[in-house]
Amino acid sequence: MSLTRIHNFAISLDGFATGEPQSLEAPFGHAGHRLHDWMFATRYWDPSGATGVDNAFAQQFAPGIGAEIMGAGKFGPPGWQDDPEWTGWWGPNPPFHTPTFVLTHRPQPAIEMEGGTTFHFLDVPPAEALAAAREAAAGQDVRIGGGPTVVRSFLAAGLVDYMHLVQVPILLGRGVRLWDGLEGLDEAYDIEVVASPTGVTHLSFTKKPAA
Ligand SMILES: NC(=O)c1ccc[n+]([C@@H]2O[C@H](COP(=O)([O-])OP(=O)(O)OC[C@H]3O[C@@H](n4cnc5c(N)ncnc54)[C@H](OP(=O)(O)O)[C@@H]3O)[C@@H](O)[C@H]2O)c1
Repeated sequence: MSLTRIHNFAISLDGFATGEPQSLEAPFGHAGHRLHDWMFATRYWDPSGATGVDNAFAQQFAPGIGAEIMGAGKFGPPGWQDDPEWTGWWGPNPPFHTPTFVLTHRPQPAIEMEGGTTFHFLDVPPAEALAAAREAAAGQDVRIGGGPTVVRSFLAAGLVDYMHLVQVPILLGRGVRLWDGLEGLDEAYDIEVVASPTGVTHLSFTKKPAA
């Protein structure tokens, strides 16, 4: 069965998954790179990087994934819809290598990139986006890639089967929070926690079987 998965999604101790303001110069606002420094230090990211628990989690990002869903806020800085040249942050060969569905209230024609990534733009509720992504994934799993607004909406709709969060020991104080409106979410998941010597904490949420 095709699962809906989240990987390497980083939050601060106070639950923010990005800082503010988001801009072309600072995609994560005042958070800078701090939410993902743990990942940049792994072999998954950098051939001379570390193996170990952070790498073991990080490298689960791609295997078995046949499509990604992301939000307009991950795809580009505020206002990217007004730039006909904008094709995302990632250059000509984005790291998704699958059909990738961008949720936006201002959809546009699809963009085919190198390396198997095609961006499709959808203005539909989460369940409809998931149905489209699942069809494109042809039996493989669908990754919800963020940002926090989109992850929150899929969690609220009960559509996420597995979520890997990385809690980074920083306090951002402002930005976009993951958890707002998700009271009691923990009851639907088996939650495991692994503390890494690097200081980050990996949390895995696996959906409990329906009673
Ligand atoms: N911490 C992490 O691991 C991580 C991972 C990924 C991204 N990020 C960061 O998160 C930030 C972006 O997150 P965000 O919460 O601001 O934005 P987001 O979740 O990427 O996107 C939210 C936006 O997507 C559009 N949207 C969402 N659901 C929709 C629907 N059902 N139908 C139509 N449009 C829909 C709306 O934009 P419009 O109304 O403008 O169309 C909405 O404002 C960036 O800074 C990014 O770098 C962090």
